[in-house]
Amino acid sequence: MAKLAHAQWSSRMAFVLAAAGSAVGLGNIWRFSYMVGENGGAAFVLVYLACVALVGLPILVAEWMIGRRGQKNPIDTMADQARQNGKPAAWMGIGITGVLAAFLILSFYSVIGGWSLNYTLGSVIGTFSGGSSESIGEQFNGMLASPITLLGWHTAFMALVVAIVARGVTKGLESAARAMMPALVILMLILVGYGITTGHFGEAVDFMFSPDWSAVSGGVVLSAMGQAFFTLSLGMGIMVAYGSYLGEEINLISTARTVIILDTVIALLAGLAIFPIVFSNGLSPDAGPGLIFVTLPLAFGNMAGGTVLGLMFFLLLTFAALTSAISLLEPTVALLEERLSLPRLTATLIGGIAVWLLGVAALLSFNVWADFSLFGLNIFDFLDTLTAKFLLPLTGLGSIVFAAWCLDKESVRQELGFDVYDFSAWNILVKYIAPLGVITVFVTELM
Ligand code: PFF
Repeated sequence: MAKLAHAQWSSRMAFVLAAAGSAVGLGNIWRFSYMVGENGGAAFVLVYLACVALVGLPILVAEWMIGRRGQKNPIDTMADQARQNGKPAAWMGIGITGVLAAFLILSFYSVIGGWSLNYTLGSVIGTFSGGSSESIGEQFNGMLASPITLLGWHTAFMALVVAIVARGVTKGLESAARAMMPALVILMLILVGYGITTGHFGEAVDFMFSPDWSAVSGGVVLSAMGQAFFTLSLGMGIMVAYGSYLGEEINLISTARTVIILDTVIALLAGLAIFPIVFSNGLSPDAGPGLIFVTLPLAFGNMAGGTVLGLMFFLLLTFAALTSAISLLEPTVALLEERLSLPRLTATLIGGIAVWLLGVAALLSFNVWADFSLFGLNIFDFLDTLTAKFLLPLTGLGSIVFAAWCLDKESVRQELGFDVYDFSAWNILVKYIAPLGVITVFVTELM
């Protein structure tokens, strides 16, 4: 979200929608489905759900709580809160890693946003009508193989993000996005309905919900945890910033539950829409980041009214991506503005160009730089892995440890509206279960 005057949300509903607007994005549809496909299906889904409930919920509440107390940008909020609670200023570090993570994520998020824009246009001109899985796969690979095509769409997407963020306020776009969220859900339901007609719905449900526990490795758990952070916009300072606009009367726990349920339902619907198409066309679920781009056009290209539905779908996906992307650029811009005293336009342009440049490196990893690797990963995968598996969980861990161990206990209990009994349960969750969960996953993965 672009910078708000340090005002407050007009209502709880406005806040829920704004937080859900940041949470619901490419992560729910594009990233969730390909992660499920790459990590063997149901076991991943169930671990992901556990991470959302046991780690995501408390961290979301912790980030909002820190934000509401600090009333500033994430870095200064952390510095102030640390000082007020007599803790070292080094806690500011988690504000910094958050801003860094948002910057890095936006670079490759924009590349995928560009794909979505490209497919919106493709739907208008009927590129996918009557396509077979081969022809649609070829179109997708053709796009990846062409640096110029990818560059053009990445640039277009980033230009939109910069244009919106530079204007400082996103009111128009936000209200549009709010209207679009229900539309996106309806379209997902239509796609799930289409999935049922393919005759492979049961197979998809099995794939997503009947776990083969032997497939669970430390890597799968780390991926599931990374996905939980990514999809809930945690570990990036974004929710800290959102919390700073919250009024005292909002109940953080019930609000977090609402946002999380919305976000999770959309991801699960996406899976139920996509996997029947995968199985009915003999495609492989582990196709990687291209999964929705080779499955959904197939469905749209072959269903009644598919051209219009396809257009609506990719348009909505682009919008969901844009509302999330705006919130990803904001921390960098706010930092440049406040720390270097730059005018907003200059700050946005500098931040936008820097992100764009890194995005160019990410998109070249699909073609010209395909053989270049960092720690065995191409640049795109490296950026995704570094952020989702490391920076986000570590920053989130920092937030929850800070909230659980450094803030005054009694004020937290009152703020969260707990009686003594519930508060003990909450304390066990935030002090031990959630942090130890994150730490265990790391240690297992690193060993
Ligand atoms: N949660 C968004 C998604 O699932 O697409 C991605 C995202 C947006 C992450 C905004 C972080 C953020 F601050």
